[in-house]
Formats: sequence, C-alpha cells, structure tokens
Amino acid sequence: MAKTIAVLTSGGDAPGMNAAVRAVTRAALSRGIKVIGVRRGYNGLLNGDVFEMNLRSVSDILHKGGTVLYTARSPEFNTPEGVQKAADNCRKLGVDGVVVIGGDGSFRGARDLTGAGIPCIGVPGTIDNDISSSDYTIGFDTAMNTAMEMIDRIRDTAQSHDRCSVVEVMGRRCGDIALEVGIAIGATSILVPEVPYDLERDVIDRLQTNLKTGKKHFIVVVAEGIGGIDNIVREIEAQTGLETRGTVLGHVQRGGSPTLRDRVIASRMGYRAVELLEEGKSNRVVVMKDNHIVDYDITEALNMKKTFNTKLYQIAHEISI
Ligand code: F6P
Repeated sequence: MAKTIAVLTSGGDAPGMNAAVRAVTRAALSRGIKVIGVRRGYNGLLNGDVFEMNLRSVSDILHKGGTVLYTARSPEFNTPEGVQKAADNCRKLGVDGVVVIGGDGSFRGARDLTGAGIPCIGVPGTIDNDISSSDYTIGFDTAMNTAMEMIDRIRDTAQSHDRCSVVEVMGRRCGDIALEVGIAIGATSILVPEVPYDLERDVIDRLQTNLKTGKKHFIVVVAEGIGGIDNIVREIEAQTGLETRGTVLGHVQRGGSPTLRDRVIASRMGYRAVELLEEGKSNRVVVMKDNHIVDYDITEALNMKKTFNTKLYQIAHEISI
C-alpha cells in the first residue's frame, strides 16, 4: 500500500481537473497517505517543483476552471533519461504512487514511470473526449456547454443578418465535441475527422435544400481536426450566395467553471485512483464504461481503438434538414 503519493496534471488543462485533484488529496489524506502536489506536470517531478498538500490545500478549488497544479507538456520527460530522473526524484521524496490526470500522452508517461519502478494511475482529463478506453473524459461536458452557449450567441447575429456561420470547435483527432454540440444547436452540417466529407454533398447541397424550404440562416459546425474553415466559408459564399462568416471558438472552450457532471465524475475518478494505489495496484487507468467507473491496464488502454458514434451522426443529419 502506498504511503506517500504524488498528484499531477499534464497536457491540455480541462475544467474539472481541480475536482479530481481535490478528490485524490482528500481520499489519500483520510487514509493516512501523505500527498505531494507536483506543479506543471512531469516537469515538476524533474525539477523538484513539489509541495506537501494538506486538507486545506484543495479548499475552494472544486468550482474553478484550469488546474491549480498548473500543467505542461514535458519534452525532457519524453526521453528514457527524463523518465529515470523523474523516478529517482520520486524515490528521494519517498513517493511510492503517482496519480496522473491528463490525456493519452500523459498516460504514456505514466506507463513509462511505472516501468521505472514508480506505480502510476491515470485519470482521463481532456476536453476532447478522445481517450479510447473511456466513454468520458473530465472537461468534455463543460467544453460542450461552453461551445453551445457561444454558438447560441452566434445564431442571434446569423439570424439577424440572414447569414451562414461556420464555427470551428476544438478536437484535433476526435469529433465528439462537434457532434454533440452540432446536435444541440441544430447545425445544418457537422464535419468531423472520423467521417470523410464531400463539401458539395455534405454542406453546399444541404444548405441549398434548406434555402429552398425557406430557411434563411445556418450554422455549420466543424471540428478543428478538419483543418481550417477559411476555405469552407469562401466556398459556401461563392456557391450559395449566402453571406458567410467564420468563427474559431478556440481556448474559450477550455476555461470556465466545471459543470456538475464534470465535478462529479472527476471526484469519483480521483477517489478511485487512490483506492487503486491503496490496493497496491499500478499501471492502471480509471475510466468510465457504460456509466460505471472501472479500471484497465494502461498499456492495454492505450492500444484500444475509439469508435465514433455514427448513429448519432446520422441522427444529427436527418433532423437538421
Ligand atoms: O487536447 C485538448 C486541446 O484543447 C485540443 O482540442 C486542441 O487541439 C489542443 O488541446 C490545443 O492545444 P494547445 O492548448 O497546446 O494549443
């Protein structure tokens, strides 16, 4: 059983990471386990940027966006020497378990650190929902709600001007934000990296069909992974005659107070991570499967393939014409 654990957040921040840090800290302390907070991801383990946490270290953070532990992507840690140095520093600190809150890249680091003798547990935190082993990642719900609210505002102005608005939401490899937000705001077309698209068939023709039935303003939602919206904006304007504007929502989706769903799931996952370390487990990732919190071997989890919800995609298209 772990006697001293460290907790860090790594990769892109996500709303709800603080709730996970809080749960890890409180669950550990209440079991008599010492907790070390690590700043700026794996960099903190390399540089000794750490501090001992107490019950009050995580007061008043549950509702805050970002991560109080700060975050970073660490090129130095991505080398065998970096992993060894981090493991040696853990041993110097007496750390015999690490909870890593982040995405797949962070889990690869957790797997390597476990391999160097420091048991690690991963907790999925990223707004993209792009972790193949988990149905849900901390921050996804907040990001979607933020994007939805922003697009509702864009709709007001698109409607007033009889325009088409093309909105890019985050998601480099994963179209989950685009898909769900697209349904929620009634997008005429949704473009995601998982589904090859044809601009004529999937955007222009759909807009033309809608124009013929009297619709005058439109929203097209595009996932970041499609690769830029300028061309799409130009083509829509040229081929339909609709005045068209493009908006990239960007990092606004990463900030803000986490939703109830993110706070609760983050709390449950953080708590489970400590239970696993207490049970002497290592190289595990805590995930959501069919609404249950379960855990998988990190190496197996990293090899899993994410499936895109094609049924939901089809529904979105059918009901927005
Ligand atoms: O992985 C989360 C995410 O927000 C992606 O959606 C986006 O592509 C990327 O991070 C942006 O990274 P950065 O904050 O480093 O620009």
